[in-house]
Amino acid sequence: MSVEIKSPKEIDLMRKVCRLAADTLLEVGDKIRAGMTTLDIDRVVHEHTLSQGARPAPLHYKGFPKSVCTSVNEIVCHGIPDGTVLRHGDIVNVDVTHVYEGFHGDTSATFYIGTPSSEARHVTEVARRSLDMGIAEVREGSRLGDVGAAIQEYVEAQGCSVVRDFVGHGIGRKFHDAPQVKHYGKRGTGERLRAGMTFTIEPMVNLGGWEIEVDPTDKWTVRTADGSLSAQFEHTVLVTREGVEILTARSRALRGSENVAALFVA
Ligand code: MF3
Ligand code: CO
Ligand code: CO
Repeated sequence: MSVEIKSPKEIDLMRKVCRLAADTLLEVGDKIRAGMTTLDIDRVVHEHTLSQGARPAPLHYKGFPKSVCTSVNEIVCHGIPDGTVLRHGDIVNVDVTHVYEGFHGDTSATFYIGTPSSEARHVTEVARRSLDMGIAEVREGSRLGDVGAAIQEYVEAQGCSVVRDFVGHGIGRKFHDAPQVKHYGKRGTGERLRAGMTFTIEPMVNLGGWEIEVDPTDKWTVRTADGSLSAQFEHTVLVTREGVEILTARSRALRGSENVAALFVA
């Protein structure tokens, strides 16, 4: 399947929807705290998205029942908001996708609820950094295998593992489009990147092994097979002549996730 090259007009619309999604993630960071349920997070995302004139893409997508994915602790991705109460020490990934004027913007982050254990902090910071390592490979002429390899090498050197069963994806008028963006692989292989391509990079990093299990009852919730913690960060990016533009870059620090160094002081 060939990878779409966006026109300047389409790129402007991608910039717009991605900025709105990034702003909703900032709003989540401002609101998230211990005692809230993941359903409360769903309400924050749903309301904030509509207030921007956008729509939450997850709602009814392939039957997904809510407006956002909330993945707590050993949940890798696609957690369904419910009555689960966020507790001190939890980590939770909140994955926001907007649709606006026909285009999608997809971004996620892992938040700390109170003070994390050293394990929770490790897997979260490795996931955060691994996304940066992947993004650093993006430029016209490089290959998707370079992106995957950079992520995998870093994550494994830190003693963690990269989930294989879920990948980043092309994005635009479609939520999930070509290409598949693997977070593992070999340098010098895979699709060559060209200016005007837009896709997500969204490494899921496990503290233990990379194997996962999908909940047999709800068919959505993905958990680590060994019960270990999992963390994830996601950006939507644009390949440019100069390198990369992070379309879901945030206008300020993300509360509850970034700049929480104070939490780590003993
Ligand atoms: N936002 C997820 C991604 O990064 C996809 C969620 S699909 C849903 O690709 F249906 F669970 F919302
Ligand atoms: Co995505
Ligand atoms: Co997403």
